[in-house]
Amino acid sequence: MRAITIPKPGDPDALVWAEVPDPVPGEGEVLVEVAASAVNGADVLQRRGFYDPPPGASPYPGLECSGRIVELGSGVAGWAVGDEVCALLSGGGYATRVAVPAGQLLPVPKGVGLVEAAGLPEVVSTVWSNVFQVAHLRPRETLLAHGGSSGIGTMAIQLAKAVGATVAVTAGSAEKLAACRELGADVLIDYREQDFVAALADATEGRGADVILDVVGAKYLDRNLDALAVNGRLVVIGMQGGAKAELNLGKLLAKRAAVAATSLRARPLDEKAAIVASVREHVWPLIESGVVRPVVDRVLPMAEAAEAHRLMESSGHIGKILLAV
Ligand SMILES: NC(=O)c1ccc[n+]([C@@H]2O[C@H](COP(=O)([O-])OP(=O)(O)OC[C@H]3O[C@@H](n4cnc5c(N)ncnc54)[C@H](OP(=O)(O)O)[C@@H]3O)[C@@H](O)[C@H]2O)c1
Repeated sequence: MRAITIPKPGDPDALVWAEVPDPVPGEGEVLVEVAASAVNGADVLQRRGFYDPPPGASPYPGLECSGRIVELGSGVAGWAVGDEVCALLSGGGYATRVAVPAGQLLPVPKGVGLVEAAGLPEVVSTVWSNVFQVAHLRPRETLLAHGGSSGIGTMAIQLAKAVGATVAVTAGSAEKLAACRELGADVLIDYREQDFVAALADATEGRGADVILDVVGAKYLDRNLDALAVNGRLVVIGMQGGAKAELNLGKLLAKRAAVAATSLRARPLDEKAAIVASVREHVWPLIESGVVRPVVDRVLPMAEAAEAHRLMESSGHIGKILLAV
């Protein structure tokens, strides 16, 4: 098969579309003929040499894909050769074939194209597990999603609106904020021009956010605590602004607040399967009924993954960048 390999970590041209050995599905796995994959922040870090795949994972980048099942490993039930699926991966999506644990498969939702479906598993699983399973966002609460126009952000806005929450977002341009508004965001904050703590306080009569989904990390930790409501929950899923910061326990204590941080990729198989099953039960019906939709910035040929990474790194996109085989 062919895959995007990284012979030597570096700039986007480090990505090389090469012939590699076919994967063999192990016990409990299926082999998927890939239709498309999608670019995630983690792929960029992996390409730069800062994020090695977890033990046992494919060495190629790609945390999600869509395609057709072409072979079943032993012990797989409930799936058949020819099924159109999308899948959460711990790597290997940037390839023409990938072996996937059956617990990480999802059917392509009705009404969504096969290529488009490639951009769903990672963002839906990340948003669902963090905003709803960890932070328990409830109807009429307020979610603050940093990076509202990102793949993660566009899904967070839609899922939070679907449960009846108020959604505030930060983004770095008027165009990106307009896209967030179209998806249902109620409070739009340009982080380059506004102080998000003050802007959120203005918009919530001083209450702040019940849940914050943060992709910035250290640089925002203290301000995120300021932006939290009493009983608020901060979930950190990205460290674009660094990993180490001082945590003011006094602020946490006064607000009876909680801070959590999670990573999806390194979770054990059973935890990933449980998240995927919950996504299928709770989120797939919202997608199939058209309440929630994949937001695709553009589709590029997989062999042009370097171009896709350049776009991602310049933050020139809104939603997901897909790589089609
Ligand atoms: N922990 C996990 O399991 C997990 C899983 C998936 C993704 N993630 C993380 O989630 C983040 C988003 O992923 P993605 O694939 O959706 O990437 P993406 O589309 O490239 O999104 C990056 C986003 O970060 C925003 N951002 C950067 N600096 C910011 C700042 N100072 N304030 C507010 N927003 C800022 C960007 O906003 P502008 O474009 O407006 O500047 C952009 O929307 C990444 O950090 C990724 O590593 C974590």
